[in-house]
Amino acid sequence: MTKKITIAIDGFSSTGKSTIAKQLAKELGYIYVDTGAMYRAVTLYAMQHNYISENHFDASKLIHDLEAISLSFSFNETLGFAEMYLNGVNVEKEIRSIEVSKLVSKVSTVSGVRKKLVKEQQEMGINKGIVMDGRDIGTVVFPDAELKLFMTASADKRAKRRYKELLDRGDNVKYEDILQNVQERDHIDSTREDSPLVKAKDAIEFDNSDMGLKEQFERIMRMVHDKI
Ligand code: DC
Repeated sequence: MTKKITIAIDGFSSTGKSTIAKQLAKELGYIYVDTGAMYRAVTLYAMQHNYISENHFDASKLIHDLEAISLSFSFNETLGFAEMYLNGVNVEKEIRSIEVSKLVSKVSTVSGVRKKLVKEQQEMGINKGIVMDGRDIGTVVFPDAELKLFMTASADKRAKRRYKELLDRGDNVKYEDILQNVQERDHIDSTREDSPLVKAKDAIEFDNSDMGLKEQFERIMRMVHDKI
């Protein structure tokens, strides 16, 4: 029997982390966890309660409510991945909106929020056999993960990918807004004090600006086989 490992995938937004993570999880029969969805769901909660908007953020009210925020994933057979639920309600579509994208980096700077989510993520990975993607997986959540990947791609390539995704789902968005959002999030995510996005010392860097999905997947699967 092959041994089960933990695969940590970190990197800037829209580097295709989740696409590759989902493929790996499917191939290996592992659990896939999109931790960005968890930060997005907490952001949606803060928006619904008017704790945050473009020019105001009451982090103390959000911290006060943390215990009342219940996050869960439920696998959707048709879509082939687990959808995000916030207090029992499916929020998968709402958390991907540009409004949430604009505010999520601010919410992710709050240590209390990170503490809660990191704890939940560590519990999900206790039995290994997991692929988790985010910003601090290889550094904070699973520092002992057997395989750590750090994904990068140019901001322009990433904004184009994200723009296409949003257009495909029928959102009315401008490319310039998406590029600006990608650059702003890069800045906040990599300069925040608590768990900034940095490459773990033992992570393998992967620039996929000019690499197709198939090639990426095959290369990473070879790394996985070396570990198991
Ligand atoms: O992966 P994503 O773009 O959906 O993540 C949304 C935001 O959540 C991202 O801008 C930073 C934050 N995040 C984080 O701080 N730590 C994680 N492990 C995952 C996401």
